Amino acid sequence: RRFYRGESYSNLLACMDRGMTAEEQNRWTFEVAWEAANKVGGIYTVIRSKTYISTEEMGDQYCLVGPYKEQCARTEVEEGPLATNTLNRAVDACRSKGFKIVTGRWLVDGNPQICLFDVGSAAWKLDEFKQELWDKTNIGVPHLDIEANDAIILGYMVADFIAEFRNCAEQDGDGTPPKIVTHFHEWQAGVGLIALRTRHVNVATVFTTHATLLGRYLCAGSTDFYNNLDKFAVDEEAGKRQIYHRYCMERAATHLAHTFTTVSDITGYEAEHLLKRKPDVITPNGLNVKKFSALHEFQNLHALSKEKIHEFVRGHFYGHYDFDLDKTLYFFIAGRYEFGNKGADIFIEALARLNHYLKSSETDITIVAFMIFPTKTNNFNVESLRGHAVTKSLRDSIADIQHKIGKRMYEVCLNGRLPAANDLLTKEEMVRLKRCIFSLQRDGLPPVTTHNIVDDWNDPVLCHVRRCNLFNTTSDRVKIVFHPEFLNSTNPLFGLDYEEFVRGCHLGVFPSYYEPWGYTPAECTLMGIPSITTNLSGFGCFMQEHIADPQSYGIYIVDRRYIGLEDSVRQLAHYMYDFSRLSRRQRIIQRNRTERLSDMLDWRSLGVYYRQARMQALHKLFPDYVEEIENSIGTLKYPRPISEPPSPSSSRVTTPAASVHGSDDEDDSVDEEGELEELRKRHH
Ligand code: UDP
Ligand code: G6P
Ligand code: GLC
Repeated sequence: RRFYRGESYSNLLACMDRGMTAEEQNRWTFEVAWEAANKVGGIYTVIRSKTYISTEEMGDQYCLVGPYKEQCARTEVEEGPLATNTLNRAVDACRSKGFKIVTGRWLVDGNPQICLFDVGSAAWKLDEFKQELWDKTNIGVPHLDIEANDAIILGYMVADFIAEFRNCAEQDGDGTPPKIVTHFHEWQAGVGLIALRTRHVNVATVFTTHATLLGRYLCAGSTDFYNNLDKFAVDEEAGKRQIYHRYCMERAATHLAHTFTTVSDITGYEAEHLLKRKPDVITPNGLNVKKFSALHEFQNLHALSKEKIHEFVRGHFYGHYDFDLDKTLYFFIAGRYEFGNKGADIFIEALARLNHYLKSSETDITIVAFMIFPTKTNNFNVESLRGHAVTKSLRDSIADIQHKIGKRMYEVCLNGRLPAANDLLTKEEMVRLKRCIFSLQRDGLPPVTTHNIVDDWNDPVLCHVRRCNLFNTTSDRVKIVFHPEFLNSTNPLFGLDYEEFVRGCHLGVFPSYYEPWGYTPAECTLMGIPSITTNLSGFGCFMQEHIADPQSYGIYIVDRRYIGLEDSVRQLAHYMYDFSRLSRRQRIIQRNRTERLSDMLDWRSLGVYYRQARMQALHKLFPDYVEEIENSIGTLKYPRPISEPPSPSSSRVTTPAASVHGSDDEDDSVDEEGELEELRKRHH
């Protein structure tokens, strides 16, 4: 058990609130984020996936707070009053000031209470709020920065609400002051923290950054960021990028918070230099892990989703569909379109090399690399739609003909004879099929992108693809599909949502340069899909710390920190090449291993850091307050698997594929057995 630093154990035991519920302690948590019920990027995933354990711990003493974004809220939030009188009175008090507030429950696991503030309804107070911010902190915000103005409005609305709530909770309590923790995420929510602290509202505050503003901007340029972290003139750099006022708000929230946290050590290090405060706690990001009742369900789901991706590929590559889908591997990169930060630059470069390696080794393997980065488009392009239309028409014709053949065979057999060749396909049907086949011809190459991109000529992905000559020619072993829009199940080309798509792929490639955590590879891990990450991402470093041999578990970590760019590209290309040479059996074993890592990413283990952060903050307000917190993560360590990692370059006898099993196509449950058998043998 770990207790708050600097306290003696016996002292702590004496004053511990042992085993009391949040309700009994009059303890409340408000979690404030711009992305509460408002999907933008990874912070939404943090908030959403964590609600299950938060409500489990705190019940209705836990409430989320964010901006009201109609589109998301309409589909995700069930409106209604909050669960307790105290909360509702605070909401009413704010409503009487003219604020529009939507309350209810967020329809996600845990079903937490949520309170959404309509920024527009308090826009008339912007000048007043800005004046207060200026008077108390000397931070001036230009009126043209709408995002920053909205952050200010939300911040002061939230601060008003929390202050009202504190009064109500005090009145409703038995005389003991309520223990309130307000947890703010990222600079956009951080203004609320600044307002609470400068108004001296007696609540504990936690501030978590999921990135630093300057870090994101500096990395997006061509700066050697990590080697110069201690040398940046922060004010000047922020000024040059016209984000000085945002930077000041971020820095103020960082320093005013009772407890400051970042999502990874690497972002902690960055914050220490750019925000000038070392985090008190590292709060790594978890996920809500749900286990299937059947052990191999995720493998079956892979096969099912892959079939849907096959269907897309048949349509997209019509006329050039001369590769074997059974020997095709699907790689992908996905995320917000931060080209360099997300490592799309080195991905494309490495794909070009992979193409070369595969061509030179005369392999029959084909790689289809998907890139999913939303950008401005004028809808799907005609070539992509046409591809899907012609394959659909062929499929429909065949289904129709099949039905008719069945009927004819039935009639012939009823007459007591076996069908002859001309009983099967009629002349007209042959003609119909020929017409379908002719319409599968195309003049150009299969397109690199599925949409008409607005600024096609300057688009970074397309520029790199052109420079690397990756044009989907027949001889290319690496094919490219750029889908400049997030996926959802109503998508006419794929008909898959993002999760299903990931399940159907073979490898996620996320060679980020700037990535405080990086949910995308973590989500792959939960679904048992191997991924490539880097030692500059929070996730990559976390895995490196807890797993003896990440690669054997399907977590490939590219070094982007200690070696030069060229070497990183080469390493990435080699990882992908090695992966492409795994046999089906080896891939199945590797997926089983990857999936086994899920537990370490579960909020059930990682949620403990949020509790620590809250406790530390409360402890500053109530020196007697201590909670018993089990620290389960410290003991986690995944050893090297007993059998060797599936490595294509070796013919090591202990490689599962080489030693235990037979043919490539055996069922995956047998593989797992085989691996266990090997384990047993070693133990004896
Ligand atoms: N994501 C998505 N659809 C996509 C690609 C990504 O919903 O097509 C989600 C993904 O599931 C993940 C989030 O976007 O939860 C990205 O989070 P990450 O931490 O990787 O990056 P961020 O955007 O926060 O920098
Ligand atoms: C899953 C399925 C297997 C299938 C395999 C394909 O494991 O359960 O039946 O053979 O996926 O794996 P691959 O890596 O070739 O997509
Ligand atoms: C940020 C980071 C990302 C992280 C996410 C959630 O958006 O860019 O790396 O995973 O926040 O913490």
